[in-house]
Amino acid sequence: MSQQERGSFGTKIGMVLATAGGAVGLGNVWRFPYMAGENGGAVFIFIYLICVVLLGVPCMINEFIIGRHSASNTARAYTKLSGGKPWKWVGYLGVLTGFLITGYYAVVSGWCLQYIFATIAGQLNGSPEYFKEYFADFVASPVKPILWTCIMMFITHYVIIHGVRNGIERASKILMPLLFILLLAIVVASCMLPGAGKGIAFLFKPDFSKIGSGVFLGALGQCFYSLSIAMGCICTYASYYSRQTNLTTTAFQIGLIDTFVAVLAGLMIFPAAFSVGINPDSGPSLIFITLPNVFEQAFAGAPAVGTCISFAFFTLLSLAALTSLISLHEVSTAFFQEELHTTRSRAALIVTVSCCAIGAVCSLSLGDWKGLEIGGKSLFDLFDFITGQIFLPIGGMLTCLFMGWYVPKKIIRDELTNWGTISGWIYGAYMFLVRYLCPLAILAILLHQFGVF
Ligand code: PHE
Repeated sequence: MSQQERGSFGTKIGMVLATAGGAVGLGNVWRFPYMAGENGGAVFIFIYLICVVLLGVPCMINEFIIGRHSASNTARAYTKLSGGKPWKWVGYLGVLTGFLITGYYAVVSGWCLQYIFATIAGQLNGSPEYFKEYFADFVASPVKPILWTCIMMFITHYVIIHGVRNGIERASKILMPLLFILLLAIVVASCMLPGAGKGIAFLFKPDFSKIGSGVFLGALGQCFYSLSIAMGCICTYASYYSRQTNLTTTAFQIGLIDTFVAVLAGLMIFPAAFSVGINPDSGPSLIFITLPNVFEQAFAGAPAVGTCISFAFFTLLSLAALTSLISLHEVSTAFFQEELHTTRSRAALIVTVSCCAIGAVCSLSLGDWKGLEIGGKSLFDLFDFITGQIFLPIGGMLTCLFMGWYVPKKIIRDELTNWGTISGWIYGAYMFLVRYLCPLAILAILLHQFGVF
């Protein structure tokens, strides 16, 4: 397919919002605040920022360069630069990771949609036990979660078939500002609650005694996941960037936006939780069990406000999930379109149908098909584990080695300086980081995950 026929982003702001939309997702809300609060507050946030700068930004630049240089889907992008060597398989791994994540990420995204409607229907009130049971019953039921998964996939499909500019970019320009507005509104409401100061202190109070190697590795892993590195998303979006895009500035902007949203999510969760004396946790139980309960109790004096906040919260989550899902879907759509030489809508249909099927199986594995376990893990957990904890770090590490040691320096320098038209001040530092520091840091995350140290 010629360069002209490929899609591209039309505006700078659209390009930044779309890429940031891919990065900002459930990880920002359900994991970052908890890790920050538990691991030293402001000190953790500081360490996290260092990880974003030293690991996240260089890894993002890797994918920007590969994607924009090749103007192809992720698998072909690596292939073009690999000079016939097996490096191309890293690209295929990225596409596979993106494809597999799409299915199970759609399931969780579907849960968010269900909770919007549960809020409207007035189902989200009761005792803490009730919230627990409600969630357990819902995820294990055979039809509803699958229906919501499919609805989420269809919305994504609708955006994708309208192309890069009229679909992804236009949707991001609407969804991302909406996400910020909702987030700010909930932060304000949460911080105005009596006793909110304790939550703010929990998030920001520096506690140096918590800092150890585990905290560093936790921050590294979180940064990697949160920026959607090594799943093909960044590389695919970068293939739609223009030759004028400043890759370095863009990487810093995305890192900053993603971290900003994560910190704001903390300011949304902790003040409300602490005002009613509930200890927040992480993961699905935080957003589907603890928080509905927190909102109900915190706004018990004004139930209508509580319902509005709960509605705003689940809408916010659905938006965050949707923009990430769009970026994931695009990885496979671009792949099938270009590799099977088919139309965009047909490629998108292949992805939507197969990911609905993966999602359905993942969802059923939490309920009726509970017995279906591999290595003691439900299929849902298995997908999460294989993609997030194995494919992701391996893909990221190999990409660093590929860029640091194999890809010709001229290509890297040209991409970083936009063919000599802008400053390439980052070149030296970037090369050092992707050659040595990043691969070693990612290796450490991988070994840490397997309990080696
Ligand atoms: N970066 C997303 C988040 O923070 C997670 C994600 C994973 C998004 C995979 C896309 C693909 O939630």
